[in-house]
Amino acid sequence: MTNIIFYHSGTGNSLHAAKRAAEALGGAELIHMGRRREEGYRSLDLDAVGFVFPVYAWGPPFAVEKFLKNLDIAKPNYTFTILTHGGWPGDTLPMWDDLLSAKGFRNDAGWALRSVENYIPFYNPPAPNKQEKINANFERALEEVCAKIRKREKKELKGSLLGKFARYVIHPLWASHVNTSDKNWKVSEKCAGCGICAKVCPVGNIAMIAEKRPAWNRSCEQCMACFHWCPEQALTWGHKGVGYNHYHHPAVKVTDLFAPEK
Ligand SMILES: Cc1cc2nc3c(=O)[nH]c(=O)nc-3n(C[C@H](O)[C@H](O)[C@H](O)COP(=O)(O)O)c2cc1C
Repeated sequence: MTNIIFYHSGTGNSLHAAKRAAEALGGAELIHMGRRREEGYRSLDLDAVGFVFPVYAWGPPFAVEKFLKNLDIAKPNYTFTILTHGGWPGDTLPMWDDLLSAKGFRNDAGWALRSVENYIPFYNPPAPNKQEKINANFERALEEVCAKIRKREKKELKGSLLGKFARYVIHPLWASHVNTSDKNWKVSEKCAGCGICAKVCPVGNIAMIAEKRPAWNRSCEQCMACFHWCPEQALTWGHKGVGYNHYHHPAVKVTDLFAPEK
């Protein structure tokens, strides 16, 4: 039997959680939801399937919702979800539960784990010493979750009134303009044209054009990978980002997020 973990990640928090969950399962294929096709899983004899992704505007990333809609897969024995978030996940878990139910799945368990906030349009990410503390707590929480996954534990998911507001009002508003919001990205003269931003973009939205400068092509997921992984710190979101802390999960290397060569 096969285990699969479908994941999405910009700065590595969710990729790290996905890797740890794969170990807890005794091995699993890791599949990036922004990059891989939704078909080709129907014939697999599946034991456990995990979904691991960050919370975006109190819901799943847009690419993750699209992936699930088209996912063609047989029912596994055990399904779980791990969300990573920067402080408040809202009702993302119950929302994800409903999206899975609409596909005929039962989400057996779901956990939302606080990790480092990476959304620069709203926040300057925490300073390195604060990042370290948050990640130490994240690791502890992740260990507990992995122990539960090992035991195939089940967990009911509950929502809240405020979470519903965020889910039904704010998340759809955000999703309606996320793809074209990349017109906010600005490139400074510090850009060395290395192309790392294009390589880490989980949806292949960045092309290196004239003079090796990045250009965004209006399919942005706002994952912030291009900003955080830029070795020259050459990107800003409008005027946001100048002098900001940069972040990626310490156990994740930039090459872990590179799209496979075509
Ligand atoms: C577009 C976007 C929206 C976000 N919205 C939320 C949110 O609604 N609530 C929250 O707690 N964190 C939010 N965050 C923070 C991320 O969920 C958090 O930093 C996550 O761990 C990043 O995962 P990654 O490192 O795998 O990309 C948001 C981040 C981004 C990029």
